[in-house]
Amino acid sequence: MEQQGIDAIIAQGLEAGGHRGHFLRDEINIQMGSYALVPQIVRAVNIPVIAAGGIADAKGVCAALTLGAAGVQIGTAYMLCPEAKTSRVHRAALKNSPSGQTTLTNLFSGRPARGITNRIIRELSAICPDAPEFPMATSAVAPLRAAGESNDSGDFSPLWAGQNTSGCKEISAAHLTEELASGTN
Ligand SMILES: Cc1cc2nc3c(=O)[nH]c(=O)nc-3n(C[C@H](O)[C@H](O)[C@H](O)COP(=O)(O)O)c2cc1C
Repeated sequence: MEQQGIDAIIAQGLEAGGHRGHFLRDEINIQMGSYALVPQIVRAVNIPVIAAGGIADAKGVCAALTLGAAGVQIGTAYMLCPEAKTSRVHRAALKNSPSGQTTLTNLFSGRPARGITNRIIRELSAICPDAPEFPMATSAVAPLRAAGESNDSGDFSPLWAGQNTSGCKEISAAHLTEELASGTN
């Protein structure tokens, strides 16, 4: 990527919520956690590396910078902010789910993405060979999802979240960003 002239590389560990890059191989087992991934990429390249995955508080930001990251990319921690378009069932699941209750699943899009473990994942298995290919799985599950959500149930919805939901707070994104950056001055 550096040789192709890329400005910066996002190093996303397997802790991260939502979808992830799959460029060389689809196998999930070769994905690394952020602490293993970030320093190895930092050592291998001469362009800025942005750390992503599992960073949820100011200490996590400092840790990523200590590992050599030039910046961080955070998704999960912002999902309870009022500005986020997180749905009602998704917000409820984030508030009620202890950290770690997430799974990489292909059920909702056809490609692996991490979300809170819910009924459809438990009953069909997280990586389901019968799931339609990306992006067709999204429309395949849509009627079930809509029926569930109309009853305030997230049983059949993608509840994207990373492994570290401990930083999710119902405060403004600006305030959360200030908190996250507070250890870097
Ligand atoms: C709701 C949600 C949706 C996401 N969608 C995508 C996506 O479509 N493609 C992608 O490459 N990463 C996606 N991500 C990953 C983020 O870009 C980011 O790398 C990740 O959230 C960082 O890890 P964290 O969730 O532990 O903070 C998503 C993350 C979340 C939380």
